[in-house]
Amino acid sequence: MKNYYITTPIYYVNDKPHIGHAYTTILADTLSRFRQLINQKTFFLTGLDEHGLKVQQAAEKNGANPQDHCDTMAPAFLELWKRLNIQYSDFIRTTEERHVKIVQNILTEVYNNGDIYKDKYEGWYSIAEERFITKKELDSGLFRDVKKIEEENYFFKMSKYQDQLIKKIEDDKEFIQPSTRKNEVLGFLKQDLSDLCISRPKTRLEWGIEIPFDKDYVTYVWFDALINYISSPKYSEDKNNFEENWPADVHLIGKDILTTHSVYWPTMLMSLDLPLPKTIFAHGWWLTDEEKMSKSLGNIISPLMLIDEFGVDSVRYYLMSEMVLGLDATFSMDSFIKRYNSDLANDLGNLVSRVSTLIDKNFDGIIPQCNDDKNDLSNQLSNIDIEEKLNTFKMDGLIQSIMDFVRSINVYMEKNQPWKLVKEDKDLAGIVLYNAAESLRIATLMLSPVMPQKSQEILDTLGSNDSSLEWGGLKSGEKIGSINPIFPRIVK
Ligand code: ME8
Ligand code: MG
Repeated sequence: MKNYYITTPIYYVNDKPHIGHAYTTILADTLSRFRQLINQKTFFLTGLDEHGLKVQQAAEKNGANPQDHCDTMAPAFLELWKRLNIQYSDFIRTTEERHVKIVQNILTEVYNNGDIYKDKYEGWYSIAEERFITKKELDSGLFRDVKKIEEENYFFKMSKYQDQLIKKIEDDKEFIQPSTRKNEVLGFLKQDLSDLCISRPKTRLEWGIEIPFDKDYVTYVWFDALINYISSPKYSEDKNNFEENWPADVHLIGKDILTTHSVYWPTMLMSLDLPLPKTIFAHGWWLTDEEKMSKSLGNIISPLMLIDEFGVDSVRYYLMSEMVLGLDATFSMDSFIKRYNSDLANDLGNLVSRVSTLIDKNFDGIIPQCNDDKNDLSNQLSNIDIEEKLNTFKMDGLIQSIMDFVRSINVYMEKNQPWKLVKEDKDLAGIVLYNAAESLRIATLMLSPVMPQKSQEILDTLGSNDSSLEWGGLKSGEKIGSINPIFPRIVK
């Protein structure tokens, strides 16, 4: 059985990770955990992009050789992923031998099939984007760190695949998402596609993978980096493992790297005669004060600071629910605290303490009797279609529908008032509390991909270790756990 294969971009090691990098990685992790929740096997790849001019320059600035610089930077990413509870299946660094070897094999393969040639090149290069830009792009004035370059280089016959690519994008509506991005790429492909310069002379840039058929050159960083998606599952080295994973089900990326992923990468795969990824999903940007949060703009929010102050799961929850997948979102402490207090402290946290305290006080902490599996709440559960939301990449919408269910448990409590009912009809009060607690158990399991740690705490409070999303997992007669405040209100 093929794994559901999810990737994040591999991040440049020119600086420490910020909220933007944390976002895509948490998104991939949450998606992977949701897929597992509905019993799918997943393969989740993330890693680091360690070659190229940007990294070489960062190393120079720190007075380190590039490899030492990478080795110093990598732990900052690994540490953050650990703190964020990221359960990746593989973490790849492009300086690893396993990757270098496969990049060189691929260069040889593409060269041998006639898709690589040598030519003189003259053009403008954006160091910030690590790619050559067109005259039109230059004139737009949108590109930073541009310099004119004239040299002999190797080229990949990207233009040869232009028509095939346009057809693919037009015919397959799942391929590039959301549709605004699909249209953007189709717009880009209206002009003639030029071939892709895939080498750099060592005289200009040393920090890269050597071209196997010309040792005076290294491989262009994007040609090297994109291959991570197939070098990790061992393309050309382990057929079974490769076919268990490739094609990727989704490449999650930010909209900043749309062209490289939806033009360079598919044409490279076409040249290798490999299947294309099922979906390339480009999300929007986290902005601060209307500007993109980025290392070079220096307006970044530190994920570690947020985790230390508010806990990892509130950070995960905020990022996953605040951004409508595909659109930009603005990060602010105000919106963070507002969402935390209303969704987590109020709606969810209060419900947990209310339900568990009522069971504790009135039923000696024993889950009351109930055999009523058709009630207001169990009926509403069928409205949550996890798989449909995942298939259409509606992460925020999925969380919204689970939180709507949590709110309807609160409404159910208000309507039935078990704290009063217990004095009139204890059995009936028990049924109400059972229904509320069981609904809470299922809602909590559904939230566990977003908040793995806090969900476990809630399940412990309910005394449940049942992992089924079906009604009836909570067993009457069992003891609940200790009651602790799960999401204390943030007071500013
Ligand atoms: O581009 N909002 O690496 P990179 C949302 N190495 N997401 C953001 C963001 C923001 N403000 N800032 C960064 C590279 N990201 C290449 C990728 S892949 C084969 C090579 C996230 O370190 C988002 O996922 O510049 C974006 O695409 C990625 O970080 C860029 O990371
Ligand atoms: Mg970038």
